[in-house]
Amino acid sequence: MKVKNKTLCRMVENQSYPLNIININPEPIGIFTLPIEKHLNYKKSAQLIEKQAPKELRQHFPTEKYTAHICNNYNQNIFNQFQTLSNLKKDLIFMILTYIKTIGHTCKDVVINDAWLNNSSKNSTLAYHYHSNSYISGNYFINFNQEIHTQLNFLNDRIIKYNSPNITTPKSPDINTLYNSKTITLNAKEGQVFLWRSHNSHGYSIPNKGDKRLTLSFNSMPKTCINSDKRYSFSVVD
Ligand SMILES: [Fe+2]
Repeated sequence: MKVKNKTLCRMVENQSYPLNIININPEPIGIFTLPIEKHLNYKKSAQLIEKQAPKELRQHFPTEKYTAHICNNYNQNIFNQFQTLSNLKKDLIFMILTYIKTIGHTCKDVVINDAWLNNSSKNSTLAYHYHSNSYISGNYFINFNQEIHTQLNFLNDRIIKYNSPNITTPKSPDINTLYNSKTITLNAKEGQVFLWRSHNSHGYSIPNKGDKRLTLSFNSMPKTCINSDKRYSFSVVD
């Protein structure tokens, strides 16, 4: 893909040298906003599930002391357990297919292979992680108050390299850019759905200031995976 090089121009000392900073390897994060009536309906259903889910569908992991999960086990999926969320599932599938198409790929159908609820209390954090066995992952912000609930962040993997030697220079104290920030924060609002390619690390380290941060996380993959020269494939069933 050819990129037009007129993105940024800076002055160098006292002389005007054009400087072009070109972004390569960009990472697409999809942000959808549900219509408010739909969102409020889904929120009501999710909050009811949160109150009434039986014990066997609930998880509490020692690594996430202040977060309770529902259907966060390999053999559970919130959409299989609760039919009240069936329209939400349809909306998410539509969003995932739209996202894949918009970034220039083709995919006829996807399966949401995992979906679960996260109810985070005050002081919760989420260690940075990524999702394996998934192609597109996402987060639906069901009960999310920007004043008291911590935003989801994405790790800037261009400056965090765990396994390779590299030369680093100190970060400027005054200048924050996409290139020197360890994490990238997007300003999520309640009712929004974020989508990303599943290998992207995400989490949050600033403790949540309030209770009831409710999100729905999910993993998805194409129903049929075909390689680029169409010689090999496999299919999964829903
Ligand atoms: Fe995650």
